[in-house]
Amino acid sequence: MLHGRTVLVLGGNAGIGLAVARLAHENRARVVVASRSAGELAGELGPEVSAFSCDITDPATYGPLLEAAGTVDHLVVAVRPALTPAPFASLELDQARAGMDVKLWGACSFVQAALPRMSPQGSVTLTSGIVGQKISPGHAAMALIDAAVETLARALAVELAPIRVNAVSPGYLAPKPDEVAAMAQGFPAGRLGAAREAAASYLHLMLSPYVTGTVAVVDGGALLV
Ligand SMILES: NC(=O)c1ccc[n+]([C@@H]2O[C@H](COP(=O)([O-])OP(=O)(O)OC[C@H]3O[C@@H](n4cnc5c(N)ncnc54)[C@H](OP(=O)(O)O)[C@@H]3O)[C@@H](O)[C@H]2O)c1
Repeated sequence: MLHGRTVLVLGGNAGIGLAVARLAHENRARVVVASRSAGELAGELGPEVSAFSCDITDPATYGPLLEAAGTVDHLVVAVRPALTPAPFASLELDQARAGMDVKLWGACSFVQAALPRMSPQGSVTLTSGIVGQKISPGHAAMALIDAAVETLARALAVELAPIRVNAVSPGYLAPKPDEVAAMAQGFPAGRLGAAREAAASYLHLMLSPYVTGTVAVVDGGALLV
């Protein structure tokens, strides 16, 4: 059902974003991916997937990407800020602010710029993360950012309607250090997740015309234990 639809993935050259791009492509969408270094991938993901270099914090880099995308049916933002987990007492606030600039304000900035090109029947899917809901020591900065992204999804679902806006909240996806993989054995799913399993939720949200303002949790039940 994505045949002929344009899916634009920010952060689409790695991890979850790349898995979304691949799955959308398999579902016959026209896929455009972008990240700071995605331009280097041009042609590697297949002739129907175009790749552009773009820094989500710098609107001056959006032009060629948006021009090439044309009308955007589904926009996915899956960028990862460079944040080092740290106890709050030694949290580097400049790094935390920069992380907020990438993941929250970057999403705001890019959605604003893409709006004139968004199909009214289309969707925006943002990415939060489990630490926004399940507090864990050392992750205060990412907890704030992820919680803010979920609030943004709800605010935009109301303000940008009929465009639908949702977020996906991934849990712990492979690869992870051994101690995290061992912890995942205690989740109801008994293991780490895969980027492709998270990607399935983005596709579900794109294809669900009555779903907006929600957070799809893909965590193998980690929130429950
Ligand atoms: N993986 C997990 O277990 C997990 C769990 C919970 C939440 N999440 C969230 O899911 C999202 C994606 O995570 P991931 O694990 O897939 O990350 P990843 O594999 O590190 O990929 C991150 C992507 O973001 C792009 N990016 C980073 N800074 C950017 C910028 N300023 N402008 C444009 N693109 C930028 C990177 O490409 P370039 O370097 O080329 O720019 C890359 O494509 C993140 O928001 C993360 O917090 C992930």
